[in-house]
Amino acid sequence: MLFFFLLLSAIFPTSSSAPFYFVFQIQGNVYPLGYYTVKLSIGNPPKSFDLDIDTGSDLTWVECDAPCSGCTIPRDRQYKPHDNLAKCGNPLCACDGPNGQCEYEVQYADQGSSHGVLVQDNILFKVSSTSLAHPMLVFGCGYDQKHPGHSPPPSTAGVLGLGNGRISILSQLNSLGLIRNVVGHCLSGRGGGFLFFGGMLIPQSGIVWTPILQSSSSSVKHYKTGPADLLFNGKPTSVKGLELIFDSGASYTYFNSQAYGAFVQLVTNDIKGKQLSRATKDPSLPICWKGPKPFKSLHDVTSNFKALALSFTKSKNSLLQLPPQAYLIVTTHGNVCLGILNGTEIGLENANLIGAISLQDKIVIYDNENQQIGWTSANCGESCFET
Ligand SMILES: *[C@@H]1O[C@H](CO)[C@@H](O)[C@H](O)[C@H]1NC(C)=O
Repeated sequence: MLFFFLLLSAIFPTSSSAPFYFVFQIQGNVYPLGYYTVKLSIGNPPKSFDLDIDTGSDLTWVECDAPCSGCTIPRDRQYKPHDNLAKCGNPLCACDGPNGQCEYEVQYADQGSSHGVLVQDNILFKVSSTSLAHPMLVFGCGYDQKHPGHSPPPSTAGVLGLGNGRISILSQLNSLGLIRNVVGHCLSGRGGGFLFFGGMLIPQSGIVWTPILQSSSSSVKHYKTGPADLLFNGKPTSVKGLELIFDSGASYTYFNSQAYGAFVQLVTNDIKGKQLSRATKDPSLPICWKGPKPFKSLHDVTSNFKALALSFTKSKNSLLQLPPQAYLIVTTHGNVCLGILNGTEIGLENANLIGAISLQDKIVIYDNENQQIGWTSANCGESCFET
């Protein structure tokens, strides 16, 4: 409560004509759940859906009672379309021919996918303690989901795509004049946090900004930044010039093979002589260590590890600080594991993703109006956020 009060006192009203901002309470964690979600109320009467917050994709979709293949929630909690398919004439729709339905297919970096049809319906947003907005928005009704083999399918109802593309509900709310085209999140390392649309919760000072790079080739717009150099314990390393995609939908951070190899080497060399030995039987993540006795929390072990930072060379003084808790987890087996993974292994080629693990305990703001991403350290704890 105290923190939220401080946060509110640090904000300032914007002069923009878009009047609203929407705040959502976040649930979830990086480990063991692997996702952060918010509740979105859709339809009339409204039904609540837990959606994975994903700044790495544009389309919002919910599990669809169409019927559905690969849905993970019970049928009565799925979205039931009711003669409200988005028609091919809809400007958000890419299909040919005026009488067809708008099909969509999204493929995620983790090999999962969703296929379905675009629908339009009212989505409910709390404007203040007494009033609601319920704009008509286009989103996906997913009736065919594939889940990557190696992990259990999430029990979420779909994905809240917070990218910058036209189909994103953020862009739609902005086109309707309801909000500024800005989204931000504060993911707590202890689980939970908050998400906001619109510009109001931006602290006035202390934010580090870096420009969003325009992607030339693909139609997919990512929150890509850089180039950035990796610092280890405040010192330069051989890892330089990384382009980084901010992706809250990825639990972990991914570096390209070369950067990953260098990072693993740095950490491994640094912990030599400490009371840590490789734990090869922990299936949680590829590289883990055990101590003399099982670790109960990150607190037990972070003093053995150095801080990382990413230095954005084209925006002066822009550092993304990554303390040990931004790249380590302690597993249910009591080992400590690296939460920066080899992106080449999941087919990312040269792309690097800053996943949720490295975005924790910061307010991160994606400002599509000024094409920049900003961040500042914050206490995102659930208990501080009262609705
Ligand atoms: C990363 O993964 C690729 C593909 O599996 C592999 O060839 C490469 O050796 C890995 N890099 C490191 C540093 O482990």
